Amino acid sequence: MMQKHYAKPGEVMYHTGLTKEMLEGAEYALVPGDPGRVEGLAKALDPAAEFVTSHREFTSWLARLNGQPVLVMSTGMGGPCITFAVEELARLGVRTFIRVGTTGSLREDLNLGDVVISKAAVRMDGASRAYAPIAYPAVPDLDVTLALRQAAEELQVPFKLGVTVTTDSFWPGQERYDSFGGYVVRRLQGSLKEWQTLGCSNYEMEAATLFTLTSVLGLRAGAICGVVAKRTDSESVAPPDVYRAAEKRFQVVARRALELLLAWQGAAR
Ligand code: URA
Repeated sequence: MMQKHYAKPGEVMYHTGLTKEMLEGAEYALVPGDPGRVEGLAKALDPAAEFVTSHREFTSWLARLNGQPVLVMSTGMGGPCITFAVEELARLGVRTFIRVGTTGSLREDLNLGDVVISKAAVRMDGASRAYAPIAYPAVPDLDVTLALRQAAEELQVPFKLGVTVTTDSFWPGQERYDSFGGYVVRRLQGSLKEWQTLGCSNYEMEAATLFTLTSVLGLRAGAICGVVAKRTDSESVAPPDVYRAAEKRFQVVARRALELLLAWQGAAR
């Protein structure tokens, strides 16, 4: 049995700069990677959302959705960064995390601007290995995932449920040759094709770490990402208009999923 460590009243979390009081009891958090995405997400939940604090890569806003406080906090990019977010937000009382971000699709039928909801993730990250042996599965919470799926269906957002490949490197880790050095180590040459053959849907850089940590810590998580690169066509990332279209989609889906989760919370399931 793990001995959990909660924050004391007034204690400031070292990396995120947050205290329990700042969260006003929030048990739900939306966690994008990009600090620049936080304000828009928070205001999509609640036009009266307010800035809380910003420290390193962690920018926080607090929104209210159906009367419930919801924290929106950026995590920065990659597995190590998201461990700070989970560790410190858990101490402050957050129990449910929804990652919203961007991704590169591995499937022909997943187009730029579409959305992927992760049903599992491949642990090609390093950070999650500090929390569980590699044989431990990186799976999201079932209710959070079902809420994301129902939300996407209701809103008629084009989406797929898929197995996400989480890597620690955007370039060689995702078998991109358009890096500065242009080289992919032999171990990763052919890896893109292999993930496709194994039916994986997308590349990104945080989901497996988030799922492993939340699972071993008795928390909940889900992930929804907008497609900004289509790896069946090219290595490049799409122009800003595609990014903005994907962002609008994951904003509305995340909002509706939170509403569903809040409604289900009160009901026996
Ligand atoms: N994020 C990634 O990690 N990979 C992509 O191709 C696009 C976004």
